[in-house]
Amino acid sequence: MWPKLVAEAKDGGADCIESYVFWNGHEPAPGQYYFEERFDLVRFVRIVKDAGLYMMLRIGPFVAAEWNFGGVPVWLHYVPGTVFRTNNEPFKSHMKRFTTYIVDMMKKEQLFASQGGPIILAQIENEYGDIEQPYGADAKPYAMWAASMALAQNTGVPWIMCQQYDAPDPVINTCNSFYCDQFKPNSPTKPKLWTENWPGWFQTFGESNPHRPPEDIAFAVARFFGKGGSVQNYYVYHGGTNFGRTAGGPFITTSYDYDAPIDEYGLRRLPKWAHLRDLHKSIKLCEHTLLYGNSSFLSLGPQLEADVYTDNSGGCIAFLANVDTEKDKVVTFQNRSYDLPAWSVSILPDCKNVVFNTAKVQSQTLMMDMVPSRLQTSKLDGWSIFREKIGIWGKSDLVRNGFIDHINTTKDYTDYLWYTTSFHVDRSHLAGGNHAVHIDSKGHAVQAFLNNELIGSAYGNGSKSSFSVEMPIKLRAGKNELSLLSMTVGLQTAGPFYEWVGAGLTSVKISGMENGTVDLSSNNWAYKIGLEGEYYSLFKPDQGKNERWMPQTEPPKNQPLTWYKVNVDVPQGDDPVGLDMQSMGKGQAWLNGNAIGRYWPRTSSVSDRCTSSCNYRGSFSPNKCRTGCGQPTQRWYHVPRSWFHPSGNTLVIFEEKGGDHTKITFSRRTVSSVCSFVSEHYPLIDLESWDGSTPDDGRNAAKVKLSCPKVKISLLLSLRVLEIPAEPADPINKEAATIRTLYPLSRRPV
Ligand code: GAL
Repeated sequence: MWPKLVAEAKDGGADCIESYVFWNGHEPAPGQYYFEERFDLVRFVRIVKDAGLYMMLRIGPFVAAEWNFGGVPVWLHYVPGTVFRTNNEPFKSHMKRFTTYIVDMMKKEQLFASQGGPIILAQIENEYGDIEQPYGADAKPYAMWAASMALAQNTGVPWIMCQQYDAPDPVINTCNSFYCDQFKPNSPTKPKLWTENWPGWFQTFGESNPHRPPEDIAFAVARFFGKGGSVQNYYVYHGGTNFGRTAGGPFITTSYDYDAPIDEYGLRRLPKWAHLRDLHKSIKLCEHTLLYGNSSFLSLGPQLEADVYTDNSGGCIAFLANVDTEKDKVVTFQNRSYDLPAWSVSILPDCKNVVFNTAKVQSQTLMMDMVPSRLQTSKLDGWSIFREKIGIWGKSDLVRNGFIDHINTTKDYTDYLWYTTSFHVDRSHLAGGNHAVHIDSKGHAVQAFLNNELIGSAYGNGSKSSFSVEMPIKLRAGKNELSLLSMTVGLQTAGPFYEWVGAGLTSVKISGMENGTVDLSSNNWAYKIGLEGEYYSLFKPDQGKNERWMPQTEPPKNQPLTWYKVNVDVPQGDDPVGLDMQSMGKGQAWLNGNAIGRYWPRTSSVSDRCTSSCNYRGSFSPNKCRTGCGQPTQRWYHVPRSWFHPSGNTLVIFEEKGGDHTKITFSRRTVSSVCSFVSEHYPLIDLESWDGSTPDDGRNAAKVKLSCPKVKISLLLSLRVLEIPAEPADPINKEAATIRTLYPLSRRPV
């Protein structure tokens, strides 16, 4: 997907691609490096170069990024004496070794700009300035060490440190935020760089979906360049998918769509992508004067500002801003009047004509659909299943009195850890007993079985991974076996001392017993790391013939801890493909041995901050403009087309809770409809050919363009002409406008 994604970014007006480097992807075991396939960093940088773009390489190697363990290998936590991101010798020596490895690799391939390559900036650490305090006296020496270690690499290009307020010369401190117009680098010799402008936000399983309106993103960018910004980067312009177990946590979704300008599937998100493209073009029309001119600031009234740049060759550009969060206004600038919607910036590359206003979205909106496409054309190729044994399979790995930490035990080789124990109940104690098991866990999830029967599941969530749960149980006389499958859903990604955050059970009690509640916490517990199916690599296609798989014409539904395998067809066409897992519980999926990732169509609460409309005005936060309350956070799971063979594709599912595998389908991501809104007050400028001569007299000549990728528009559903009163009572509410004419155009092809 990389060449196409980079080309789409270039078409969207990007000059430069910024990427993190994921240490735990590149060094899965100490000294064992991996740069193949999706981790082929050199190949990626070359693709960027071949597209004619620059590159910013954020080596970190701590990166956060909603990526497992913030990108640092889990094994490093178990190197004796290591504390991450502080003045700690083992950490520093490993960080230096990995940074040097990456820098040397780039140098060898001549990829730094100083060598004629595309890399113009490199980053060390990531937002350390924001969390120095808890690290006490060891914070500053570490931050300064990181800067000098980086400088000593001699790349010939500048180093940056984001959110590092005291980055020492010549390292440039940069800004990460929804808005960075007020940011000032720590020395006048340093340019004003914005490394992370978040055009949306990430998701956790069980939450509704955040959206950042394009009007607000454009507003923030225009303000930044108006106020002297030099480089602005979207984090993320495309976030893609956290395949396998790379999603961090706890509970970060497999999708890293982020409401970004290019969606998870690699398609343009409209109008966002195009609105920002138009913004980029407009700013580039100002490029010469922005670079060579001097700026001045003018107040045009309350909440009304002009940032004006003039150069020696007579160039004049202006950014006119209305920062009022409610009122649309009309301003006078250099004897002309301009209409400025609330919370908007107009860009004037000649101090006269408006070529762009951040609140006037000219681009069409594309509505996307996931259209079901059958998993198999013939039912002849049936399903095979493998059922996990409940509790310890094979021999236990450990036996302890009491609990051990989940992550310290699995070292994250797997999400799964069995905690099992048994206890005796006298027959005389059974009668009339209301028995229940009470489980406390640091997180992230548990599946509980008593005497091989599922008694329940429990989970934490994205804001609190720990949980307590009570499950009613039916005990039997004699020996009772309690088997608790503890699960992680992505490891912590950031925060002070984040690598010490644990998971797993902390207390297990049985209530309703003869003598009240019995605490099993310090019982003798036997542990087993991982699943039997993982041990046999059932997800690998060459294990397909594995005699452990049981072919079944009608495999049972709603069974916990079951592996399913089936031969599937390639969905027709070339639309991107998602796997629809709505009928399933929770687990993991693979196609032809490639890990699609964790799936979990966990629904958010109906009251999880959703609103029926989204007001772009005013400061954005991820609590604004949410959708999908009461719906699964993530129903579809991206399966890249390149993972399919022309025929003979093996889909493997591991289901933890129980679901209906017969309802799993592929879906194709396609455009379902397009729509657009335009007004006679919108600039009527062709940004491609604008040479300064077009007068701003677009009034009454509004123009709208609609197009569908790959298909012809066959039906125009409606055209509504709205007449907005000169002084709308409520400018935010477009419904206040009267509908003058409604042309029902259905069934009339155009
Ligand atoms: C930043 C961090 C990024 C990413 C982002 C949120 O603080 O640097 O790596 O985690 O937050 O998406």
